[in-house]
Amino acid sequence: MTTETLHAADRAQPALSDALLSVRDLGMTFPGARGVLRRMPGVRAVDGVSFDVRPGETLGLVGESGCGKSTTGRMLVRLLDPTAGTVAFRGQDITRTSQGRLRPLRSKFQMIFQDPFASLNPRQTVQQIIAAPLRAQGASSGEIAREVRDLVQLVGLAPEHLERYPHQFSGGQAQRIGIARALATRPELVVADEPVSALDVSIQAQIVGLMERLQRELGVAYVFIAHDLAVVKHISHRVAVMYLGRIVEIGDKDDVYQRPAHPYTKALLSAVPLPDPAAERARERIVLLGDPPSPANPPSGCTFHPRCPKAQARCREEAPLLTLTTRAQQVACHYPET
Ligand SMILES: Nc1ncnc2c1ncn2[C@@H]1O[C@H](COP(=O)(O)OP(=O)(O)OP(=O)(O)O)[C@@H](O)[C@H]1O
Ligand code: SF4
Ligand SMILES: [Mg+2]
Repeated sequence: MTTETLHAADRAQPALSDALLSVRDLGMTFPGARGVLRRMPGVRAVDGVSFDVRPGETLGLVGESGCGKSTTGRMLVRLLDPTAGTVAFRGQDITRTSQGRLRPLRSKFQMIFQDPFASLNPRQTVQQIIAAPLRAQGASSGEIAREVRDLVQLVGLAPEHLERYPHQFSGGQAQRIGIARALATRPELVVADEPVSALDVSIQAQIVGLMERLQRELGVAYVFIAHDLAVVKHISHRVAVMYLGRIVEIGDKDDVYQRPAHPYTKALLSAVPLPDPAAERARERIVLLGDPPSPANPPSGCTFHPRCPKAQARCREEAPLLTLTTRAQQVACHYPET
């Protein structure tokens, strides 16, 4: 990490010395739509997001639709340029690096998308799809052929699949192709944006299991994006909960799931079905009122206050900062659970 980034990171949050990825005060404001007389206010999709990802770990990133998960994920791998903050990969600030200078690093971070069919070129065979990132790296034909065969096997597809086209596969198999392509350059970080949301529940478990096995075998770190806490529970080592562009709670998986400190996390967890029917009947459901507000016109103070069962007068005026609580995780709430 350069001295400059280290100091910037220090101010926002203590930096992990072994961080693979350090994200500090990341922000994205999309320009507002052009009206007849003037432009509408900008959409602050991501606002002051800070976290670290350690090598080989999975950070689950969850929150309701529109809270800024995909925008954050795309900024992590520079598919989108942030309007504020920094992203450092192995200590190197990549936020404003030109695409040319970024190229040697590109192979180190990859992305998996929600809709595998939309992200695979329908006119290319599986062989061509998985070979593309290797070819871009300048690998020889022999190396590419060997690597593609290994990758296909690694993700549980058969050699005869190599000559087929994406439309000849099921959703789960297509996602395996997306995973093989993402892993082709042996990345250290993969941002997976809702990689199982479009799949049948039975297939979801298979893909999550595959990703876990690949992490054990290859040591790759994941930022795993999902709508709800149930999907990321199994795979995550740590979890970050987003609301209206900000992280409201972040910590080790067990701390966040067993002792949530933010009212929003508690509400999300109360909607996760429990395997034991008696426990399911007995538990209290926290129903949030209304939909999340628009990031084009966020509420004052704590942006969760219009929906928060614990809101008090201070919450309408003062935005809470993400701070360490008596529980082990960091929470942005004036009145967290203790
Ligand atoms: N290119 C864009 N221009 C303007 N606004 C955008 C753009 N992309 C996203 N937004 C807005 O930014 C906010 C965050 O969007 P984002 O797609 O990151 O949310 P998300 O958490 O991934 O949602 P979902 O769960 O539905 O995928 C939303 O209000 C969205 O409408
Ligand atoms: S700061 Fe207030 S409104 Fe926001 S989550 Fe905490 S109690 Fe609720
Ligand atoms: Mg999204």
